[in-house]
Amino acid sequence: MRMAVYSAREDEEPFFHHFAPEYGMEIVMIPTDPTPETLEAAAGCDCVSIVTKTHITPPMLDAYKAMGVRFLSTRTVGFEHIDVDYAEKIGMGVGNVGYTPYSVAEYAVMMMMMAMRHMKTMTVRAMGQDYGLDVIRGRLIHDATVGIVGTGKIGATVATILQGFGCKVLAYDLYQNPALEGMVEYVSMEELLRQSDIVTLHAPATADSFHMMNAQTIAMMKKGAVLVNTARGDLVDSEALITAIEEEHLGGAALDLVEGDRLIYYREKKGQQLKNRYMSILNGLPNVIMTPHMAFFTDHSVSDMVENSIRSSAEYLQSN
Ligand code: COI
Repeated sequence: MRMAVYSAREDEEPFFHHFAPEYGMEIVMIPTDPTPETLEAAAGCDCVSIVTKTHITPPMLDAYKAMGVRFLSTRTVGFEHIDVDYAEKIGMGVGNVGYTPYSVAEYAVMMMMMAMRHMKTMTVRAMGQDYGLDVIRGRLIHDATVGIVGTGKIGATVATILQGFGCKVLAYDLYQNPALEGMVEYVSMEELLRQSDIVTLHAPATADSFHMMNAQTIAMMKKGAVLVNTARGDLVDSEALITAIEEEHLGGAALDLVEGDRLIYYREKKGQQLKNRYMSILNGLPNVIMTPHMAFFTDHSVSDMVENSIRSSAEYLQSN
């Protein structure tokens, strides 16, 4: 079995070399992203492993199929960058990977604490030896009501971690997670927004979840509340978020993603104009923490992502 691996980072490579022999997989490293121009590099491979940087369109799927590729694995949980319906139509297998939910969940809780303790303002000021206490008085998570939107694996892990803080935890999801009984109170989305001091998003990017946080829903949030997004940029209407922060309706935001970030994050942009005005504005706000889609990025997750991409591809190829 041969796997074409696109866009592997340096930190992923040792895991590919470690796990590939275990699953009888031969690895062909392709140092670029999958684009119509780089498809040919996968010729002779049975499966392809990608990340989220580029969209996998129907013509690209046709081309892979024609060259004998049978399975496409994304080394991510999210799979909105692949035309899954079309892949199914042409009989191409597609798989995403699971990895420890603790990476994103711990990061989300860290972002909550950083936002509640004005960590951005404090860090910038301390770097300039400004050690005054004005402006930076924080709030406790213990005293807060935290609203978790989406209680799949990551949202549920956030709920579990929050038990240690002794705070009230509300949750909204289309389906209630029985494992959270006694830990969270499920309420409507509107109720969650109205009651929470911190709203943390853990929903996938779908047509239905696009801009779930918009002018109308943000207006429902409590004055001074904080929005944490470690899920997908498209969940939040950035324009509406900026307005709510400028008007001091929200107390801040902690964003590991911003809509349009895919063309910017993971690239060196020092000294350049960002081609995303939302990011430029949000980055300049003292009470908005922005990080480059790195909540997943731990040694544990990277190992899981690589192993599970190889494992699921091998299992598919052996049983189809
Ligand atoms: C995912 O797994 O869906 C992520 O968000 C992480 C990733 C894009 C590397």
